[in-house]
Amino acid sequence: MQKGFFITGTDTGVGKTIITAALIKAIKHLGLKACAMKPIETGCLKSKVKVQSLNFKDKDEVLLPSDGIFLKEIAGMDDSIDFIVPIRFKNPLAPLPASEREGIYVDFEKIKKAYRYLSKKYDAVVVEGIGGLFVPITRDYFVLDLAKDFGLPLIVVSRPGLGTINHTMLTINYAIKEGLHVAGIIINYSHKSKGTLAEDTNPEVIKQISPIPIIGIFPYLENLENDTIEKAAKNLDIEIIKKYLEICFLN
Ligand SMILES: Nc1ncnc2c1ncn2[C@@H]1O[C@H](COP(=O)(O)OP(=O)(O)O)[C@@H](O)[C@H]1O
Ligand SMILES: [Mg+2]
Repeated sequence: MQKGFFITGTDTGVGKTIITAALIKAIKHLGLKACAMKPIETGCLKSKVKVQSLNFKDKDEVLLPSDGIFLKEIAGMDDSIDFIVPIRFKNPLAPLPASEREGIYVDFEKIKKAYRYLSKKYDAVVVEGIGGLFVPITRDYFVLDLAKDFGLPLIVVSRPGLGTINHTMLTINYAIKEGLHVAGIIINYSHKSKGTLAEDTNPEVIKQISPIPIIGIFPYLENLENDTIEKAAKNLDIEIIKKYLEICFLN
């Protein structure tokens, strides 16, 4: 039985990385060993030197995945970055166009091997997806298919403001239609609250019309640090998280 979550968003930049970090803190709080994985990261910066602390296995590798590095730090993982972010691209694009421009095919075997390693070592793996569900990885394989292959329950991160009802409902309803198990929605303030009527009323409306529960409303944090993220993770409904990790407690 696989344990963990697959994190997607209604869009890119909604806060998937921050919510992945918060979920890791929440799971650790339950006394479980949790880790992060970002199977594919694009927009990686080129570094002139090899960063020792990342334990790159490939000696020539100089592409730095910022989400993966942040998550490695927050999760306190001592593993090679090759397991956390097995596939890295330079161009800030969806994986399909990045892969075509760079002439590198996505090696799915590498992703599987990394996931196998992490899921054996840790009680739960929180996997950050790439953008939203319809982001292409190859011409006929999308983030949705990657989520299916991981077989983990899905968590949808969405924006708080105007427009989010439609984006959230499209994402969760499509995921359900495609047979994915959706655990819940997390509304994330990636910017300061604007105090709009939409922000105030959206959670209630989503609760009324969505078949999926809201796991929490994650606040805007001035400083995104270990402590502040850990503290804010208390805004997430631990009972829903626990329910999906139940198997760990039974073991
Ligand atoms: N709760 C939050 N508080 C403060 N800043 C946030 C919060 N969530 C996201 N951000 C900021 O918003 C930006 C996008 O968040 P990120 O987690 O990287 O999104 P994604 O992974 O979906 O692309 C980042 O600069 C991040 O620091
Ligand atoms: Mg991210």
